[in-house]
Amino acid sequence: MSDEPEISPEAVHAAVEAALAAIAGAADATALKAARAAHTAEGSPLAQLNARLRDVAPDRKAESGKLVGQARGRVSQALVAREQALDAAETAARLEAERVDITAMPTRARVGARHPISLLQEQIADLFVGMGWEIAEGPELEHEWYNFDALNFDADHPARQMQDTFFVEPTSRHLVMRTHTSPVQVRSMLEREVPIYVLCPGRAYRTDEFDATHLPVFTQFEGLVVDKGITMAHLKGTLDHAARVLFGSEAKTRFRANYFPFTEPSAELDLWHPTFKGGARWIEWGGCGMVNPNVLRAAGIDPEEYSGFAFGMGVERTLMFRSDVQDMRDMAEGDVRFSEQFGMVV
Ligand code: PHE
Repeated sequence: MSDEPEISPEAVHAAVEAALAAIAGAADATALKAARAAHTAEGSPLAQLNARLRDVAPDRKAESGKLVGQARGRVSQALVAREQALDAAETAARLEAERVDITAMPTRARVGARHPISLLQEQIADLFVGMGWEIAEGPELEHEWYNFDALNFDADHPARQMQDTFFVEPTSRHLVMRTHTSPVQVRSMLEREVPIYVLCPGRAYRTDEFDATHLPVFTQFEGLVVDKGITMAHLKGTLDHAARVLFGSEAKTRFRANYFPFTEPSAELDLWHPTFKGGARWIEWGGCGMVNPNVLRAAGIDPEEYSGFAFGMGVERTLMFRSDVQDMRDMAEGDVRFSEQFGMVV
């Protein structure tokens, strides 16, 4: 018992305290790894004490072994505990960072808006369907015969000139992009039995400039009635009704003499409303007239027995006056911010 203890409790205590302090101070996995290396790996004070156990006198071996063994046990427990604590903290931090609030409103894809031209077209169609009319359709790529000949256009009518009409190559096939919805008059008369009450909303094409008041592709609505005893008074009454439904009860229409090859007599249709931008005034709305007997004949209808009226208006113009749109190009560009201003109802 007189021998100096070769492994002093103080040395063990100091090594353990140093190790525990380093472990407690390790802020992350890397620091902990360094603490483990410095305090438990070969060369560390505890490892050196452990190595010295070999040389301890036999009668002290058990006591020293216990001392060093407990010390190493404490340190390795502290390492495990610290490792778990760091893991838990890291997991908690990651969960917090990746947290998804499942009660939050998802960011939805932006809701678009229907185009005001489509909405207005539908409203115009409803107005006529409400009077018992049918909706008629025809192709936008049209045969010259329907677009011009059957509508009583002369072979050298200026509208056929290259500067107005998109001719589709090869020109020997006589196909055009229809310049108006009037060819649907002819198609309707050929396809349907009289009496005929049809409305045709659709696109038309002209080699116009793209500017505030012209579009090379635009939308029209065409009306056609063929029945016994139809007069211009029916035409006027129908258009007055349409004007009031679309613009309000104070709207008025008037005819101004004009010429179209497919109507006789023909009129320019003007529209008046007290609240038009720029004050109460007349604006040109479209063309109309009594179906020319030559057109009835081209469609196999006897003009002695039947008469009819027809009209054609621009939907873009209608929207301009109705919703005070200044520039037609806004209607063609397809920017949803334009459409959104109209909501879902024009
Ligand atoms: N189709 C003519 C145009 O586009 C309008 C119109 C239609 C005129 C029906 C008379 C009758 O200008």
